[in-house]
This record gives sequence, C-alpha cells and structure tokens, in this order.
Amino acid sequence: MTPAATVPALLRPTWAEINLDAVRANLRQLRSGLPSGTQLLFVVKANAYGHGAVPLSLLAQQERLCDRLGVSCIEEGIELRKAGVTLPILVLGSIYPFSGFDAALEHGLAVTIASAEAARSLSEAAARTGKPAACHVKVDTGMGRIGMRRPSASATVQIIRGLVGITLEGIYTHLSSAESDAAYTRLQLRHFSDTLQACGLSDAHGVLRHAAASYAAVSYPDSVFDMIRPGLACYGLMDGFAPAMTLKSRIVFLKDVRSGASIGYGRTFRAPRQLKLATLPIGYADGYARRFSNTAEVLVRGRRCRVAGAVSMDMIVVDVSSVPGAQVGDEAVLIGAQGEDRITAQDLAQWAGTISYEVATAISARVPRMWL
Ligand SMILES: Cc1ncc(COP(=O)(O)O)c(C=O)c1O
Repeated sequence: MTPAATVPALLRPTWAEINLDAVRANLRQLRSGLPSGTQLLFVVKANAYGHGAVPLSLLAQQERLCDRLGVSCIEEGIELRKAGVTLPILVLGSIYPFSGFDAALEHGLAVTIASAEAARSLSEAAARTGKPAACHVKVDTGMGRIGMRRPSASATVQIIRGLVGITLEGIYTHLSSAESDAAYTRLQLRHFSDTLQACGLSDAHGVLRHAAASYAAVSYPDSVFDMIRPGLACYGLMDGFAPAMTLKSRIVFLKDVRSGASIGYGRTFRAPRQLKLATLPIGYADGYARRFSNTAEVLVRGRRCRVAGAVSMDMIVVDVSSVPGAQVGDEAVLIGAQGEDRITAQDLAQWAGTISYEVATAISARVPRMWL
C-alpha cells in the first residue's frame, strides 16, 4: 500500500502510521518469554503511549494477545468500556477524590488501593452502587510515588479481607530503575517479596502479584511473579522490539537560501553556505518538541536531513541540500524507517535529552493516526 493510498483524505500531510503487526509481534514476544500461566497486562494508558488505546485494546482483546489492560485514570477506562472493551481493566493511578470509585465500579474497572482509607471508601462505593469491587493493593518498595510500605500494606490487606463487597484481586509494586540500576532493582524486589510474606501472600492464593514493567520483564525473571505489566516494549519504544509508530509529513515548500541567511524564530540557524531547505507542516503543537531545534534529523529520500532553526508551533525547516532531486510533495519520515535508514523515538529522545516515552506520548491529537 502506498502512503498516498493510505491517507487520501488528509488536507495537511502530517500523520502517524501505527503498525498493528508490530504491536502483535511485541505482545507475542513478551508472552513467549513467560512461564505458563503467567498473565500479561497490556499498559494502554495515555492513549496507548500515543498509539491509540481503543484500536489497540480491541486488537488485543480480539486476538487474545493479553489478559488485562492497564490505564492511568478512570476516564481512560471508561473510554475503553464505551468502545466495547470487555477485558479486565486495572486503573494504575491513585484515585482521589474517592467519590471516583463509584464511576470505576459502574464501568467494571479494578482500582489501585494505596491506603486503608481508600479501601474503606471502596467498600462504601460497592455498597452504594451494588457493584462488585476488585482492587490491587499498591506497595511502595522504593519508587516513592504512591503505595504503602510493608506494615501498612499488610494491615490494609487484612482490612480488605474483612470488608464487604471488595475482592483483593492483586498486589503490586513499581520499579524505579530496572533499566539502569540492578542493585536498587534487586532491593525493591526483595522489599516486595518481604511484603508479600508479611501479607501472607508468598504463595499466590488466587491474588495476582506483579512488579515488572517492560525492562524488568525482559531482564529480571524473578520480577515476573504472576503477571507482567509492559507498555514500552509493546510499542517497540525500546531496543529488542519492533517500533510500531511511524511519524510522517511531506515537503510543502522548498527554497534555495544564500550563505548567511537566517531561519526561524530567534534566528538560531544561519546558513553556512548556499543551501536547499524544505518546510514540513509539523511543529511543537503536533508534539514535535522544540528541543529538536537544530538537532533532530528527518529522512527524505532515505537521507538524513537536520532540522534547521527553531521548531515552530506548526512548521519545521530541514536541510535537504544533500538529497538529490528533493521535491515539494516528497515524504519525510520523522520517526520510523525510510530506505535503508531508521530514526527511532529513542534517537529523538537522545537528541532532546529525554526518554522515548515522552517522545511518543507527546505526539498530539492533531496528528491523525492510521492503523495499518
Ligand atoms: C504502574 C505502572 N506499571 C507499568 C507501566 C508500564 O511501564 P513500561 O512502559 O516501562 O513498560 C507503567 C508506566 O509508567 C506504570 O506506571
């Protein structure tokens, strides 16, 4: 399928293609490494890291690529339910105000419990709504965001067991540096195991114990417990997995500039010699960060072309001087492969001093997504 054939209706030629085969392959790859019976919770928060939570959740559901879905907040879970997603969904964020529990239960969302007070409120919500409440207790083993340390966690597990209308479906922790700090990761995993023991959950007892997101799932077999919770790997935003998103635009304007000409806001780029420059209709309002100014590269006719000048809200200029025959209408790849070369979200993250999570989730709603 030619790109032109896949995007016939675009009035502004800037779009993201999401390769469903890549997501499928990544989920299968993750699953194939798991001991049998281990569950996979596919993290689709933040619009599936910019890849489209509804289509990807429906794909995973239809093809049984995962056991559960993870979202950040109740609103994200409701969006999936309204789209026909029936898989179990866990809200990973801390719910406050507790009145939000009613909406979570009405839509059949399991919730994260990070305090005894939250557990009691959930039980009240179950009584009010007449709906069953499933919860996962969050243990803070060193991330320091939400969750209970060992004594409170074990007390809360006992409280939950005594409350009516609530089921303890899981208990989990989140690792802060599985990609970079083995000693700290092992310490967190030890704290988690100790907490499970204190809670009487050293053996599963039908309660899902989980700790591993993408990096831990592939690097720390003892972090896998009963379930893994990958996001990044599913989208191919880390090495070893197939990148799912390609971000594209087209040259809409082309010009020759003389040596010394300045480009863009603040005149941060001065042409060192005569150059051929191309304008692409994508900018920071599309999530193409201002930090890519004068640094990032895009592919045109398979050649790398550097961004010249500051990224504007709606446009960038790239240096196509080394691209033979560059023309208005040529496709430019900002993330993804063209010819023999590829620019990854990890490359962009490195150029901008950030992480691939931020690069992908930043691609804004203004950029139409095509699921291929
Ligand atoms: C609680 C929790 N679990 C799992 C994930 C998925 O992490 P990753 O995208 O690194 O796989 C996240 C993401 O931030 C998270 O907050």
